[in-house]
Amino acid sequence: MLEQPHDLGPGTVAGVLRERPPMDRELPGFDPAAAPAAPGPLFVEWLLGALTAEVPDAQVATLSTVDADGLPDARMLVLRDVDAEGAGWLFAGDTDSPKGRQLTAHPVAALTFYWPPLGRQVRIRGSVETAAPELSAAEFLTRSPAARAAALSGPQSGPIDSTDAYGAELAAALERLAADPGLIAPGHTVYTLRALAVEFWQGDRARRHVRLRYERPSPEAAWTSGLLRP
Ligand SMILES: Cc1cc2nc3c(=O)[nH]c(=O)nc-3n(C[C@H](O)[C@H](O)[C@H](O)COP(=O)(O)O)c2cc1C
Repeated sequence: MLEQPHDLGPGTVAGVLRERPPMDRELPGFDPAAAPAAPGPLFVEWLLGALTAEVPDAQVATLSTVDADGLPDARMLVLRDVDAEGAGWLFAGDTDSPKGRQLTAHPVAALTFYWPPLGRQVRIRGSVETAAPELSAAEFLTRSPAARAAALSGPQSGPIDSTDAYGAELAAALERLAADPGLIAPGHTVYTLRALAVEFWQGDRARRHVRLRYERPSPEAAWTSGLLRP
Protein backbone atom coordinates (compact mmCIF):
# COMPACT_ATOMS: atom_id res chain seq x y z
CA MET A 1 0.00 0.00 0.00
CA LEU A 2 1.20 3.51 -0.79
CA GLU A 3 1.53 5.64 2.32
CA GLN A 4 1.30 8.97 0.50
CA PRO A 5 -1.64 9.90 -1.73
CA HIS A 6 -0.49 8.82 -5.17
CA ASP A 7 0.36 11.69 -7.52
CA LEU A 8 -1.66 11.25 -10.72
CA GLY A 9 -1.07 14.79 -12.03
CA PRO A 10 0.40 16.06 -15.31
CA GLY A 11 4.01 14.98 -15.86
CA THR A 12 3.65 11.81 -13.80
CA VAL A 13 3.60 8.41 -15.48
CA ALA A 14 -0.15 8.25 -14.81
CA GLY A 15 -0.56 11.67 -16.42
CA VAL A 16 1.45 10.70 -19.50
CA LEU A 17 -0.59 7.49 -19.87
CA ARG A 18 -3.86 9.38 -19.50
CA GLU A 19 -2.90 11.62 -22.42
CA ARG A 20 -2.70 8.54 -24.67
CA PRO A 21 -6.08 6.82 -24.59
CA PRO A 22 -5.99 3.55 -26.51
CA MET A 23 -7.98 3.12 -29.72
CA ASP A 24 -8.37 6.87 -30.16
CA ARG A 25 -8.51 6.58 -33.94
CA GLU A 26 -10.77 5.54 -36.83
CA LEU A 27 -11.44 1.80 -36.50
CA PRO A 28 -13.26 -0.68 -38.74
CA GLY A 29 -16.75 -1.77 -37.80
CA PHE A 30 -17.90 -5.30 -37.01
CA ASP A 31 -21.45 -6.51 -37.51
CA PRO A 32 -21.91 -9.57 -35.28
CA ALA A 33 -25.28 -10.31 -36.95
CA ALA A 34 -23.33 -11.17 -40.12
CA ALA A 35 -20.81 -13.40 -38.31
CA PRO A 36 -20.56 -17.08 -39.30
CA ALA A 37 -21.84 -19.92 -37.10
CA ALA A 38 -18.30 -21.02 -36.16
CA PRO A 39 -15.29 -18.94 -35.07
CA GLY A 40 -12.61 -20.45 -37.35
CA PRO A 41 -13.66 -18.71 -40.58
CA LEU A 42 -14.16 -15.39 -38.75
CA PHE A 43 -10.68 -15.64 -37.24
CA VAL A 44 -9.15 -16.28 -40.67
CA GLU A 45 -11.06 -13.26 -42.04
CA TRP A 46 -9.76 -11.03 -39.21
CA LEU A 47 -6.19 -12.39 -39.48
CA LEU A 48 -6.06 -11.88 -43.25
CA GLY A 49 -7.59 -8.42 -42.72
CA ALA A 50 -4.79 -7.59 -40.26
CA LEU A 51 -2.13 -8.87 -42.67
CA THR A 52 -3.68 -6.91 -45.57
CA ALA A 53 -3.74 -3.81 -43.37
CA GLU A 54 0.00 -4.40 -42.83
CA VAL A 55 -0.36 -4.72 -39.06
CA PRO A 56 3.22 -5.50 -37.97
CA ASP A 57 3.65 -9.09 -36.76
CA ALA A 58 -0.09 -9.77 -37.07
CA GLN A 59 0.67 -13.49 -36.78
CA VAL A 60 2.25 -13.08 -33.32
CA ALA A 61 0.13 -13.81 -30.24
CA THR A 62 0.47 -14.23 -26.48
CA LEU A 63 0.38 -17.86 -25.36
CA SER A 64 -0.70 -18.31 -21.75
CA THR A 65 -0.15 -21.52 -19.81
CA VAL A 66 -0.17 -22.58 -16.16
CA ASP A 67 2.78 -24.00 -14.25
CA ALA A 68 2.88 -26.79 -11.66
CA ASP A 69 1.92 -24.35 -8.87
CA GLY A 70 -1.08 -23.08 -10.82
CA LEU A 71 0.75 -19.81 -11.53
CA PRO A 72 -0.02 -18.33 -14.98
CA ASP A 73 2.82 -17.81 -17.45
CA ALA A 74 2.69 -16.03 -20.81
CA ARG A 75 4.91 -15.23 -23.76
CA MET A 76 4.65 -14.15 -27.39
CA LEU A 77 4.94 -16.65 -30.20
CA VAL A 78 4.23 -17.06 -33.87
CA LEU A 79 1.02 -18.60 -35.19
CA ARG A 80 2.02 -21.34 -37.67
CA ASP A 81 -1.37 -22.30 -39.12
CA VAL A 82 -5.10 -22.34 -38.47
CA ASP A 83 -7.43 -25.30 -38.86
CA ALA A 84 -10.50 -23.15 -39.50
CA GLU A 85 -12.94 -26.05 -39.68
CA GLY A 86 -11.70 -27.84 -36.54
CA ALA A 87 -11.03 -24.55 -34.70
CA GLY A 88 -7.37 -25.41 -34.12
CA TRP A 89 -4.55 -22.86 -33.76
CA LEU A 90 -1.06 -24.25 -34.45
CA PHE A 91 2.14 -22.99 -32.84
CA ALA A 92 5.58 -24.49 -32.23
CA GLY A 93 8.23 -24.55 -29.54
CA ASP A 94 10.62 -26.68 -27.52
CA THR A 95 9.07 -29.40 -25.28
CA ASP A 96 12.15 -28.96 -23.08
CA SER A 97 11.31 -25.33 -22.24
CA PRO A 98 9.14 -23.93 -19.44
CA LYS A 99 6.15 -23.63 -21.75
CA GLY A 100 6.75 -27.15 -23.12
CA ARG A 101 6.91 -28.62 -19.62
CA GLN A 102 3.83 -26.65 -18.57
CA LEU A 103 1.91 -27.94 -21.59
CA THR A 104 2.99 -31.52 -20.87
CA ALA A 105 1.75 -31.27 -17.27
CA HIS A 106 -1.37 -29.17 -18.07
CA PRO A 107 -2.31 -29.42 -21.76
CA VAL A 108 -4.49 -26.31 -21.71
CA ALA A 109 -3.73 -22.79 -22.94
CA ALA A 110 -5.00 -19.43 -24.08
CA LEU A 111 -3.86 -17.52 -27.15
CA THR A 112 -4.50 -13.78 -27.36
CA PHE A 113 -4.13 -11.60 -30.44
CA TYR A 114 -4.31 -7.81 -30.56
CA TRP A 115 -4.12 -5.82 -33.78
CA PRO A 116 -3.73 -2.19 -32.60
CA PRO A 117 -4.40 -0.32 -35.87
CA LEU A 118 -7.74 -2.17 -36.13
CA GLY A 119 -8.59 -2.16 -32.41
CA ARG A 120 -9.30 -5.88 -32.66
CA GLN A 121 -8.63 -8.51 -30.02
CA VAL A 122 -9.23 -12.27 -30.32
CA ARG A 123 -9.06 -14.55 -27.27
CA ILE A 124 -8.90 -18.31 -27.68
CA ARG A 125 -9.03 -20.87 -24.85
CA GLY A 126 -8.96 -24.63 -24.98
CA SER A 127 -7.00 -27.83 -24.73
CA VAL A 128 -3.63 -28.44 -26.35
CA GLU A 129 -2.76 -31.41 -28.57
CA THR A 130 0.83 -32.41 -29.37
CA ALA A 131 1.55 -33.25 -33.00
CA ALA A 132 3.16 -36.52 -34.06
CA PRO A 133 6.99 -36.26 -34.17
CA GLU A 134 6.97 -36.65 -37.99
CA LEU A 135 4.74 -33.58 -38.38
CA SER A 136 6.87 -31.54 -35.97
CA ALA A 137 10.02 -32.62 -37.87
CA ALA A 138 8.47 -31.68 -41.23
CA GLU A 139 7.50 -28.26 -39.86
CA PHE A 140 11.03 -27.78 -38.50
CA LEU A 141 12.49 -28.36 -41.96
CA THR A 142 10.36 -25.52 -43.40
CA ARG A 143 12.26 -23.05 -41.20
CA SER A 144 15.15 -20.78 -42.16
CA PRO A 145 18.67 -22.04 -41.37
CA ALA A 146 19.02 -19.29 -38.74
CA ALA A 147 15.82 -20.41 -36.98
CA ARG A 148 16.86 -24.07 -37.13
CA ALA A 149 20.34 -23.26 -35.81
CA ALA A 150 18.82 -21.34 -32.91
CA ALA A 151 16.68 -24.35 -31.98
CA LEU A 152 19.64 -26.71 -32.38
CA SER A 153 21.91 -24.62 -30.16
CA GLY A 154 20.38 -26.07 -26.96
CA PRO A 155 17.21 -26.23 -24.87
CA GLN A 156 15.11 -23.06 -25.07
CA SER A 157 15.24 -20.88 -21.94
CA GLY A 158 18.34 -22.68 -20.63
CA PRO A 159 20.95 -20.39 -18.99
CA ILE A 160 23.85 -19.01 -21.07
CA ASP A 161 27.13 -17.49 -19.90
CA SER A 162 27.05 -14.47 -22.21
CA THR A 163 25.64 -13.24 -25.52
CA ASP A 164 29.06 -13.95 -27.06
CA ALA A 165 28.97 -17.53 -25.83
CA TYR A 166 25.50 -17.89 -27.37
CA GLY A 167 26.81 -16.40 -30.64
CA ALA A 168 29.50 -19.10 -30.69
CA GLU A 169 26.88 -21.82 -30.03
CA LEU A 170 24.78 -20.47 -32.90
CA ALA A 171 27.75 -20.43 -35.27
CA ALA A 172 28.59 -24.02 -34.32
CA ALA A 173 24.95 -25.07 -34.85
CA LEU A 174 24.95 -23.41 -38.29
CA GLU A 175 28.07 -25.40 -39.21
CA ARG A 176 26.47 -28.66 -38.04
CA LEU A 177 23.39 -27.80 -40.09
CA ALA A 178 25.44 -27.06 -43.20
CA ALA A 179 27.09 -30.49 -42.85
CA ASP A 180 23.77 -32.24 -42.14
CA PRO A 181 20.76 -30.22 -43.45
CA GLY A 182 18.29 -32.87 -42.24
CA LEU A 183 19.06 -32.23 -38.54
CA ILE A 184 15.97 -31.83 -36.35
CA ALA A 185 16.08 -30.16 -32.94
CA PRO A 186 15.12 -32.94 -30.50
CA GLY A 187 12.48 -31.01 -28.56
CA HIS A 188 10.92 -29.16 -31.49
CA THR A 189 7.16 -29.69 -31.25
CA VAL A 190 4.08 -28.45 -33.05
CA TYR A 191 1.08 -27.92 -30.79
CA THR A 192 -2.57 -27.34 -31.65
CA LEU A 193 -4.77 -25.29 -29.37
CA ARG A 194 -8.20 -26.86 -29.88
CA ALA A 195 -10.62 -24.10 -28.98
CA LEU A 196 -13.50 -24.40 -26.55
CA ALA A 197 -14.09 -20.64 -26.45
CA VAL A 198 -13.20 -17.92 -28.94
CA GLU A 199 -13.99 -14.28 -28.41
CA PHE A 200 -13.88 -11.46 -30.97
CA TRP A 201 -13.62 -7.93 -29.63
CA GLN A 202 -13.94 -4.92 -31.90
CA GLY A 203 -12.91 -1.66 -30.29
CA ASP A 204 -14.76 1.57 -30.96
CA ARG A 205 -13.50 5.11 -30.47
CA ALA A 206 -16.76 6.07 -28.73
CA ARG A 207 -16.53 2.96 -26.51
CA ARG A 208 -19.37 1.11 -28.23
CA HIS A 209 -17.09 -1.91 -28.41
CA VAL A 210 -18.57 -5.11 -29.82
CA ARG A 211 -17.81 -8.44 -28.14
CA LEU A 212 -18.90 -11.74 -29.66
CA ARG A 213 -18.10 -14.99 -27.88
CA TYR A 214 -18.33 -18.51 -29.29
CA GLU A 215 -18.37 -21.54 -26.97
CA ARG A 216 -18.65 -25.29 -27.19
CA PRO A 217 -18.53 -27.77 -24.30
CA SER A 218 -16.19 -30.16 -26.17
CA PRO A 219 -14.34 -30.20 -29.52
CA GLU A 220 -17.04 -32.55 -30.88
CA ALA A 221 -19.97 -30.32 -29.88
CA ALA A 222 -21.66 -27.56 -31.91
CA TRP A 223 -20.81 -23.90 -31.30
CA THR A 224 -23.14 -21.44 -29.63
CA SER A 225 -22.46 -17.72 -29.64
CA GLY A 226 -23.63 -14.56 -27.98
CA LEU A 227 -22.81 -10.92 -27.35
CA LEU A 228 -21.16 -9.77 -24.12
CA ARG A 229 -21.05 -6.37 -22.45
CA PRO A 230 -17.56 -5.09 -23.25
C1 LIG B 1 7.71 -11.77 -31.76
C2 LIG B 1 8.13 -13.03 -31.05
C3 LIG B 1 7.92 -14.26 -31.65
C4 LIG B 1 8.28 -15.45 -30.98
N1 LIG B 1 8.00 -16.65 -31.56
C5 LIG B 1 8.24 -17.78 -30.86
C6 LIG B 1 7.81 -19.05 -31.37
O1 LIG B 1 7.18 -19.16 -32.44
N2 LIG B 1 8.09 -20.16 -30.63
C7 LIG B 1 8.74 -20.07 -29.44
O2 LIG B 1 8.98 -21.13 -28.83
N3 LIG B 1 9.15 -18.90 -28.93
C8 LIG B 1 8.89 -17.75 -29.60
N4 LIG B 1 9.28 -16.54 -29.08
C9 LIG B 1 10.03 -16.52 -27.80
C10 LIG B 1 9.05 -16.66 -26.63
O3 LIG B 1 8.38 -15.42 -26.37
C11 LIG B 1 9.73 -17.12 -25.35
O4 LIG B 1 10.78 -16.25 -25.01
C12 LIG B 1 10.32 -18.54 -25.50
O5 LIG B 1 9.39 -19.37 -26.18
C13 LIG B 1 10.62 -19.14 -24.12
O6 LIG B 1 9.43 -19.20 -23.40
P1 LIG B 1 9.28 -20.16 -22.12
O7 LIG B 1 10.49 -19.89 -21.26
O8 LIG B 1 8.00 -19.73 -21.45
O9 LIG B 1 9.21 -21.57 -22.62
C14 LIG B 1 8.91 -15.36 -29.72
C15 LIG B 1 9.13 -14.12 -29.12
C16 LIG B 1 8.72 -12.97 -29.77
C17 LIG B 1 8.91 -11.62 -29.08
